Amino acid sequence: MTNQSHHSPLDKTAAIILAAGQGTRMKSAKPKVLHTLAGRPLVHYPVRAALEAGCAEVVVVVGYGRAEVAAYLAAAFGDRVKTAVQEEQRGTGDAARAGLGAVSAAMDRAIIFYGDVPLLTAADLTAVTDALGADTSLALATCSVDDPTGYGRVLRGANGAVTEIREHRDLKTDAERATREINPGIYAAPLAFLHAAVAALEPNNAQGELYLTDIVARGARSAHPVVGCPARADVLAGVNDREQLALAERVMYARITRHWRLSGVTVRDGARIEDAVVLGEDAVIEQGAILRGQTRVGKGALIDVGCVLTNASVEDGVACKPYSVITDSRVGPRAQVGPFSHLRPDSDIGEEAHVGNFVETKKTRMARGSKANHLAYLGDGVIGAGANIGAGTIFCNYDGFQKHTTTIEAGVFIGSDSQIVAPVTIGENAYVATGTTVTVDVPPGALAISRVKQQNKEGYAERLRRRFSAAKEAGKKT
Ligand code: UD1
Ligand code: CA
Repeated sequence: MTNQSHHSPLDKTAAIILAAGQGTRMKSAKPKVLHTLAGRPLVHYPVRAALEAGCAEVVVVVGYGRAEVAAYLAAAFGDRVKTAVQEEQRGTGDAARAGLGAVSAAMDRAIIFYGDVPLLTAADLTAVTDALGADTSLALATCSVDDPTGYGRVLRGANGAVTEIREHRDLKTDAERATREINPGIYAAPLAFLHAAVAALEPNNAQGELYLTDIVARGARSAHPVVGCPARADVLAGVNDREQLALAERVMYARITRHWRLSGVTVRDGARIEDAVVLGEDAVIEQGAILRGQTRVGKGALIDVGCVLTNASVEDGVACKPYSVITDSRVGPRAQVGPFSHLRPDSDIGEEAHVGNFVETKKTRMARGSKANHLAYLGDGVIGAGANIGAGTIFCNYDGFQKHTTTIEAGVFIGSDSQIVAPVTIGENAYVATGTTVTVDVPPGALAISRVKQQNKEGYAERLRRRFSAAKEAGKKT
């Protein structure tokens, strides 16, 4: 919690986050706030900032795609977040009105901001609530930018006081257009003021919408002043299109990388670590590694060049060598994976086990110290401790209709180029000779061998060559 004591307390402050718009500039069927940034939907970040700031209530106004947005919020934040519905997207002022309707009577003020501002932090919010004094009607963040295109401009009177926000499309004079002080969209005010101000909004503007920004002029006309507080322009940029999404995402990835580096992880430039990922001390994340979803990497683990981990749980001291792909799977302490291994969902690689070059596993458990070092497909398998799976082994798990389990007990040796036709069990310490097709259970300690016995025909090689050469010559003449 960053709600430190030098900030004004937020125990009676509601956060209202506006996220009902479609986001037409995204040109997408998906609601804008569900587009992902560093692995989480956009709306996640402003909600988290409000919770971290210590806002006593968080209300998200949903509209376009409301079922999907509400479902995400419930899954991610549970009952710490409420939603309010804006039936028709009639502007940010109308959305704020819907949000205010969901704020409980126990609150006495609100901080209102937009759901498309993923880089803002708790500190950016408390800066605005701190600026709201007993004799101010409204506090709002403002920032100066080189290119104000598209933003609402902060207009000030002769005495320097904020008088109103005017939307880009509604600017009247060149002087207004030249204003580089913009509205990043964070407003804090007493609830009484907000209720009265949104009730009085009118759609007298280029878009015919109810603009939340018009509450600023009302505050400025009141007996109490409006205070602008300088904010960080770079972090308060709204995401309206996919280019802005990419720019914000770049900043977020840099933030995440910096966080892990300062926590004792070596993260090379060019690695990409999503927001929900957790890394242990002395882990090394090499260039081009991509860590997604709920991935966990243990202490001292190596995630080498080009690995792609999605919801992977990689424990202490593991080495994931280059270009390995691990999805929804666990790798136990000090195991080795790769280069070029593919662990598909529900793989569970035990302590100190090895999975090597061009080995694919799926729904397979490999116990402690077992090894499959080269070229194998191990699907629906249970492999015992210390078992050795030779190069080219295939678990034939699928008969075209159903998947079947292969059980390899502890200490088994599977010779290279063997096919194990499931369902089948190979007993403890058994030995499967190279090139065997196992179709029936092998008892513990037995040798299974199914290939044809080798014959050597003396002198036969030369006879064969002569025969083939003659056949080729005969073919040319015809
Ligand atoms: C808004 C501000 C602008 C400011 C900019 C900062 C207004 C009128 N303008 O413009 O002054 O500089 O943000 O990024 O407020 N929304 C709803 N319901 C609606 C309309 C919008 O919930 O009916 C939500 C959207 O989902 C979005 C947010 O409000 O998250 C802002 O809407 P958007 O259309 O992006 O406003 P901007 O044009 O960026
Ligand atoms: Ca916006």
